[in-house]
Amino acid sequence: MSTRTDQLTLNVNLQAFGQRPSAWQFGDDAADALITPGHWIASAQAAERGLLDAVFFADQPVLHNPNPRPGSQLEPIALAAFITAVTEHIGVIASASSTYNDPVELAERLLGTDVVSGGRLGWNIVTTYNSRVSGNFGGGETPARAARYRRAGEFVEAVRAVWGAAAGDGRFRFDGEDVRVNGRTALGPSAQGAPVLFQAGGSEQGRELAARHAEGVFSVELTLPRAIENYAALKRRASALGRSRGLPRITPGLSLVIGSTVEEARRRFDEFESRVPDGYALGSLSNVLAHDAATLELDAPIPAEILDKPWDPDEHPTSAGYRLTFLDWIQERRLLSVREILRDFGGYGSRIIVGTPEQIADDMELWFHSGAADGFNLMIDRFPEGLVTFADEVVPLLQGKGIHKREYGHSTLRHTLGVAAFRAD
Ligand SMILES: Cc1cc2nc3c(=O)[nH]c(=O)nc-3n(C[C@H](O)[C@H](O)[C@H](O)COP(=O)(O)O)c2cc1C
Repeated sequence: MSTRTDQLTLNVNLQAFGQRPSAWQFGDDAADALITPGHWIASAQAAERGLLDAVFFADQPVLHNPNPRPGSQLEPIALAAFITAVTEHIGVIASASSTYNDPVELAERLLGTDVVSGGRLGWNIVTTYNSRVSGNFGGGETPARAARYRRAGEFVEAVRAVWGAAAGDGRFRFDGEDVRVNGRTALGPSAQGAPVLFQAGGSEQGRELAARHAEGVFSVELTLPRAIENYAALKRRASALGRSRGLPRITPGLSLVIGSTVEEARRRFDEFESRVPDGYALGSLSNVLAHDAATLELDAPIPAEILDKPWDPDEHPTSAGYRLTFLDWIQERRLLSVREILRDFGGYGSRIIVGTPEQIADDMELWFHSGAADGFNLMIDRFPEGLVTFADEVVPLLQGKGIHKREYGHSTLRHTLGVAAFRAD
């Protein structure tokens, strides 16, 4: 089966109360809403109403929340099992770290959940740079990027070996440098064979991993030209490795604040922003600059020596892809003051559109038809209402353009995404 390329791949990143850091301060959600079933049911059902392909969960395997906002503490594979039980069609893509898991145990947990969900699970492969995590696993320093990705490559092969065994005689064996497994699984394949593979992480090593294994990629892209360049490069790399045409599906994050007029959207955005603590974005800016942004003069541009400082991705622990993309974006604004940069940083890690349903649908179509994206991982300002607005106002426009489905034709996530059944080799 060749990959379907005429329609958007649309996932939604279910981030707690919403992507806006102040989302939890609006509406009448109870303080404990994130640990009640109702919140997740309402958000997942809104996603299904919009005929989205999947809901997506990030995961930081760390038991404390450093942000001045409530975050979900629920583990994504547990949430996936729950969400697929209260919905009919939509898939769930759960992030899980290859640095801090055991491959056989994770392979079985993912496949088991895929089996009971009727083949609606995806795994987003992440390598985790968050330095707070390693302590949770009894460790000291976070392994360097090269070591994390070396393990990730072997880890994915070991997971695939287990899934392949589930479709065969149950026996698996993989001998790598860091990862060695040899055993037997009692599980059989799911309705889609095994979970869909997504990947997030845009360094050279991250792209290699995606080109080799991923059916979908969650990327960070801020400008159309750079997105087109990266899109073509990744498809070329995957094709050179013998992957099917169209793989992997590339879905950059896209943050949305929707209003029926531009003014209304802007008002909604300003209301969210007015309740974000001062300096909230300084941490992200510090990551991008590899420099403590709190020491910068707010009303002056970022000094050239900081912007132009050569850097070695291997020495920079956070995401190389994210950093490069944002540095590009900041370079284009190098005459703006730090205060102005922080104001425009509104996507908090993704491109943002504050606008009408028409503007949003036109923009999505432009990126799709320009060869910049196969779809998007949507970042919604506040759940579930922002997602209901997307489903009711933007989805019909996308359908009118012929780039979004009108119904779910099939029940497995692989069918919904138009990617082939799992094969171990
Ligand atoms: C868009 C995006 C989403 C990510 N989501 C997660 C996540 O949910 N959990 C996690 O541990 N790491 C996450 N990461 C971190 C990556 O897995 C990786 O460790 C990091 O980005 C460094 O790799 P890179 O330089 O290849 O980007 C994410 C990275 C990106 C770019």
